[in-house]
Amino acid sequence: MSDPRLHSWPELPVAVVIGAGGMGLAVARRLGQRHRLLLVDINADQLDAKAAMLRDEGHWVEPLRCDITARDDVAALAGRVAELGGFRVLAHVAGLSPSMADGRTIMAVNLVGAALMEEALLPLASAGSAAIFIASLAAHTLVPDAKIQPLLDNPLAPSFLDDLASALDTELTPTLAYQLSKNTLVRLCQRRAWVWGERRARILSLSPGLIATPMGNLEFKNQPMKFDLLAKTPLQRQGNMHEIADAVAFLASDRASFISGIDLLVDGGIHAALRHGAGV
Ligand SMILES: NC(=O)c1ccc[n+]([C@@H]2O[C@H](COP(=O)([O-])OP(=O)(O)OC[C@H]3O[C@@H](n4cnc5c(N)ncnc54)[C@H](O)[C@@H]3O)[C@@H](O)[C@H]2O)c1
Repeated sequence: MSDPRLHSWPELPVAVVIGAGGMGLAVARRLGQRHRLLLVDINADQLDAKAAMLRDEGHWVEPLRCDITARDDVAALAGRVAELGGFRVLAHVAGLSPSMADGRTIMAVNLVGAALMEEALLPLASAGSAAIFIASLAAHTLVPDAKIQPLLDNPLAPSFLDDLASALDTELTPTLAYQLSKNTLVRLCQRRAWVWGERRARILSLSPGLIATPMGNLEFKNQPMKFDLLAKTPLQRQGNMHEIADAVAFLASDRASFISGIDLLVDGGIHAALRHGAGV
């Protein structure tokens, strides 16, 4: 730890960045220009390394290890945010892709973890706070069966994962879990816009398309059909994580002060192209 006198900007508002992976680091860099950063991840080694990197670049950053699926960890995180005086921005980036875990774990991290974070940090939101949850293009690739929707909309129910497994007609594969978790995350942000609005705070989601990060590269390796998606992307390339970070920075800023309860696709146009083809 370097001399704290070199890193003291107590007047800056706090941004909580959940996930210190590829996209999380890019988001932290952008938000760190105007915020003190509370950088959060389950992986302590990665977290410390990324926090040191950000500190060396001149950011105010405090690392905090937290498993977002563990209620005690999330409560401890909320306690630290309260000590810091609340937050201006929550950028919830952490997630698992289909190649990284089984369906149940993906559901737990991508949906239950996000819902726990939303529940824990809402009481600390104040006028002008913004919560941005990273979803995915995959959120828009299925419509969940109406009979499981009420179940999905209550991910903090004690037996949620078991009840979901029983209610599904098919196996909860990693790909299905990814689609369902991200689709429900988008809905969660829409459904919670009212309670965040009561605090004059905003909540929304951002759905990236194909983005070049270590996670994105892994999926290209394991799912060759992603090359078809790349070919169908109007801009004919992957996005980079700084393009996501720029969108997050805008959504977090006062320039976006009337934007809440939406999902912003940042996908090079692929969602539109999948719906409408080449157009004309
Ligand atoms: N890269 C893409 O092409 C792409 C596309 C669409 C959506 N996304 C979404 O973007 C987000 C970030 O992706 P990325 O490419 O930066 O991935 P990444 O794997 O680099 O980062 C994800 C981070 O989440 C952390 N994490 C995992 N489980 C956790 C837990 N239980 N508690 C706390 N932290 C945990 C990991 O340690 C990791 O640092 C994910 O939500 C992903 O689904 C990515």
